Amino acid sequence: MKILIIGGTVFLGRALVAEALTRGHEVTAFNRGVSGPNPPDVEAVHGDREDEAALRGLVDGRHWDAVIDTCGFVPRTVRLSATILAAHASAYAFVSSFHAYADWPAEGVDESRPRHACPPDAGPDDVEYNALKAGCERAVEESFPDRALIINPGIIVGPGENVGRLPWWLETIARGGRVLAPGDPDREMQLIDARDIARFVFDRLAVRGSGRYVTSGTPGNTTMGDLLRECVRVTGADTELVWADESFLRARDVAPWTELPLYAPDLPEVAGTWRASSKKALAAGLRCRPVTETVADTWEALRSGAYPPPKYLQGQAPVGLDPAKHAAVLAEWDARSPLGT
Ligand SMILES: NC(=O)c1ccc[n+]([C@@H]2O[C@H](COP(=O)([O-])OP(=O)(O)OC[C@H]3O[C@@H](n4cnc5c(N)ncnc54)[C@H](OP(=O)(O)O)[C@@H]3O)[C@@H](O)[C@H]2O)c1
Repeated sequence: MKILIIGGTVFLGRALVAEALTRGHEVTAFNRGVSGPNPPDVEAVHGDREDEAALRGLVDGRHWDAVIDTCGFVPRTVRLSATILAAHASAYAFVSSFHAYADWPAEGVDESRPRHACPPDAGPDDVEYNALKAGCERAVEESFPDRALIINPGIIVGPGENVGRLPWWLETIARGGRVLAPGDPDREMQLIDARDIARFVFDRLAVRGSGRYVTSGTPGNTTMGDLLRECVRVTGADTELVWADESFLRARDVAPWTELPLYAPDLPEVAGTWRASSKKALAAGLRCRPVTETVADTWEALRSGAYPPPKYLQGQAPVGLDPAKHAAVLAEWDARSPLGT
């Protein structure tokens, strides 16, 4: 297949390009050339997706079997590319997120759940940020009726993860010593590896698949305890995980999700975080590798320097607990519980 990827030089985009090349597809990557180098064996076209002239120059006289859009965040912008590409691509695969669904993270999601009421021409400030992906999906569906493949991933991990959630745990644990671990170690999670999403996207494109797919790992494919213990194992560090309960962490203003990445506390407003159903995608062939493999490969990728370092930012929020705060909270936990466990 001839594939156009909008993006392609960062985390999920890189996994998609790697998968495409493994399958022998021809890849054109369209990006500004600022986030990182384009992989070898890819036709790189530099331009800004918000620049209509650049998009028109890109498509002139060309046709792709599919476009894959990894970096659509504003409906108006996605509408521009979808409108222009409608006559130049047979299918449009759009990487959305759980955020397109109105009830997440309070409730688990599947494809039948209502989406936010964001229109396909919304600008960045027209609706709240999390609702924008729903408008982006509508913009693609509008220009590619029956030819739109919408992927709603859950929390994506894997080599080269750019947000820095799993990398922060790995690097913190690798330093050894005592590491604060949040809440219930048996809390079930649901993570998906970027490489499994990439494989699924190309499997669907190969059969001209369209429609929406919630793509997350199988429910309970790890727990907070298993994940962090696996980080200890792969790093080989002499680290003690110190499990502190949720009310204690809340009282110390330790922010779930950002300061302690991947930690969703037991609260109603985030009760659906790890409860998505990927039944439809699994039935359509989604296969998820064990989380242990993802942890090991992510650690290897961090050590090898094969990927740009994570930015440790989620939107504007820094990811990871400041070392001084970490030490202070641990000291308070020890003072409260003489055994320190
Ligand atoms: N991480 C998660 O847990 C998670 C969960 C659910 C969904 N998602 C979704 O997964 C996707 C992640 O994709 P990703 O990892 O490939 O990273 P990304 O940050 O979405 O995309 C970055 C790529 O897009 C290019 N790009 C950015 N702005 C551009 C512009 N104006 N014009 C042209 N190219 C542009 C970048 O290159 P240049 O900067 O060089 O232009 C880079 O190649 C996102 O859509 C995200 O919403 C992520």
